[in-house]
Amino acid sequence: MSGIDGKVIVITGASSGIGRAAALLLARRGAKVVLGARGHDELEAVAREVQVSGGDAVHRRTDVSKRQDVAALVGLAADRHGKLDVLITNAGIGPISKLQELRVEDWEAMVDVNVKGLLYGIAAALPIFRRQGFGHIVNTSSTAGIQMSPNAMRNRPRPAVPSGRNQKRSQAPMADLSAPVMAVPVLRAGEAARCRKCRCASSPPPGSHPAAPGSPGSL
Ligand SMILES: NC(=O)c1ccc[n+]([C@@H]2O[C@H](COP(=O)([O-])OP(=O)(O)OC[C@H]3O[C@@H](n4cnc5c(N)ncnc54)[C@H](OP(=O)(O)O)[C@@H]3O)[C@@H](O)[C@H]2O)c1
Repeated sequence: MSGIDGKVIVITGASSGIGRAAALLLARRGAKVVLGARGHDELEAVAREVQVSGGDAVHRRTDVSKRQDVAALVGLAADRHGKLDVLITNAGIGPISKLQELRVEDWEAMVDVNVKGLLYGIAAALPIFRRQGFGHIVNTSSTAGIQMSPNAMRNRPRPAVPSGRNQKRSQAPMADLSAPVMAVPVLRAGEAARCRKCRCASSPPPGSHPAAPGSPGSL
């Protein structure tokens, strides 16, 4: 038995990467995972992987930029299991560009997913947590949210996340919740930390490699 055993955990962005790895690990430790992302087939594959190992997983296609989708995902967890222990707001994108490129649609998408997606998660989970008297929100942020680098536009939406955490620490609690933030440095789940630009294995400190301007990316 671990402290994770029996916990009901919603994970957004669970179809790949860190979200997928978290789902598999938490389910192995006895959590009942409820998985959301836009890619239905990928989500289904993760859920099946959990189930064939004897774990408990359900999934729902979820676009975190749509409030009703996030509410439905959180509702699925509460309806199925009668409680919600943890919401992991992990879905995120990070198309990288310099400010002067004015890729405004990318900026809007990052705000919609990385900021509003998190807020919609809080809006969906908080009433349940208050009713129950317990609950945790864990957000996957980025070191880009706490330090600047030349790929400026990737960084902009991120500070909203740690500043929410800091508000929780410095003021009377917004609610009786813990709100940890995982600031993810340059890494990929399941492999040693690598530079995401050149994939070298030297694990350089974040920001020490120049950004590849205009390179598309989902982070
Ligand atoms: N890996 C890194 O080095 C790194 C560094 C800094 C921060 N992060 C942050 O860590 C988190 C996970 O990243 P990762 O490395 O695991 O990347 P990833 O493999 O690209 O995973 C991103 C996940 O987010 C989902 N997603 C994207 N847009 C979504 C939307 N609108 N609605 C719902 N789900 C959405 C994707 O699924 P669908 O496309 O199927 O929706 C996918 O499951 C992200 O928030 C990322 O910004 C990662």
